[in-house]
Amino acid sequence: MIDDKPLRLVIASKTVVAEDICEFTLASMDGGSLPEFDPGAHVTIETPHGSSRRYSLINAGVAPNKYVIAVKKELNSRGGSRSMHDNLQAGSEISVWPPENSFPLADASRYLFIAGGIGITPILAMANHCVETGQEFDIIYCARSAESAAYHETIASQFGDRVIIHLDGGDPEKAYDFWDWFVTPSNVHVYCCGPKPLMEEVKAVSGHWPSKNIHFEDFKPVEAVGQDAEAFEVRLTSTGQTFQVEGNQSILETLRSGGVRVPSSCESGSCGSCRMKLVSGKVIHRDFVLTSSEYASALMVCVSRGDGLIEIDFES
Ligand code: FES
Repeated sequence: MIDDKPLRLVIASKTVVAEDICEFTLASMDGGSLPEFDPGAHVTIETPHGSSRRYSLINAGVAPNKYVIAVKKELNSRGGSRSMHDNLQAGSEISVWPPENSFPLADASRYLFIAGGIGITPILAMANHCVETGQEFDIIYCARSAESAAYHETIASQFGDRVIIHLDGGDPEKAYDFWDWFVTPSNVHVYCCGPKPLMEEVKAVSGHWPSKNIHFEDFKPVEAVGQDAEAFEVRLTSTGQTFQVEGNQSILETLRSGGVRVPSSCESGSCGSCRMKLVSGKVIHRDFVLTSSEYASALMVCVSRGDGLIEIDFES
């Protein structure tokens, strides 16, 4: 949730860094310092199209005088990323909300960073931070081709044998096999950012790991509200209130409109902030946080849907 007022920033530079991917450097009007952030943080930008989009920060967040982001032009998007590419140039001004972080680095002795495509952006910030602090890590960077893999040359030369770059040519049959990394649960913390199939695969192979060790980030909103989404009812057992969740609303939005305050951050099913207790009813889970053993007792209200009446409450 964004409570702060947006900053008015200027595009200091715009550079093509891969096929359909541009890097933007954002600076304050007077070149002064900007609010700090930790690795994994993102900014929310009001795109020229008028929609808001979240982009991970690539640069270091200590006393920054710039924010560096990379934007992939999504050809099937509703216009947000396309307008960033087509309508912004060096010198353009934009509104940017200060950094937030729904993908923070936990303290760990070792990290495994997994990125797919443009999901490399928060991973790059995290890996650079680990180099500075002397922490151990490995990176697996999956992409369709070298041309579409932003920063792959820099990453290969900078991180050497700590990085595996896997190019699959867009063929699901050639997708990277993560299993060897997950056979035996360990104290490693895994950070995964990328397209949904990649995150689903990592979630599947890590099911026997402690859930606190597996972290996901997804900026593409999960289709909590799809074209064919059906309405259903939600009862909050502690107050007895019943809400109708329309096909074009999430449970989170419905509760908020009814005056029920629910914490949230990513609103895409990947951070765990909006977790609530499932008391009864059938839920269609669409998050990347819960394990299958938790499905019967919890849900993420930003993305999950119900079938009929479901009863939920805050977890104590
Ligand atoms: S707000 Fe992040 S999982 Fe719902």
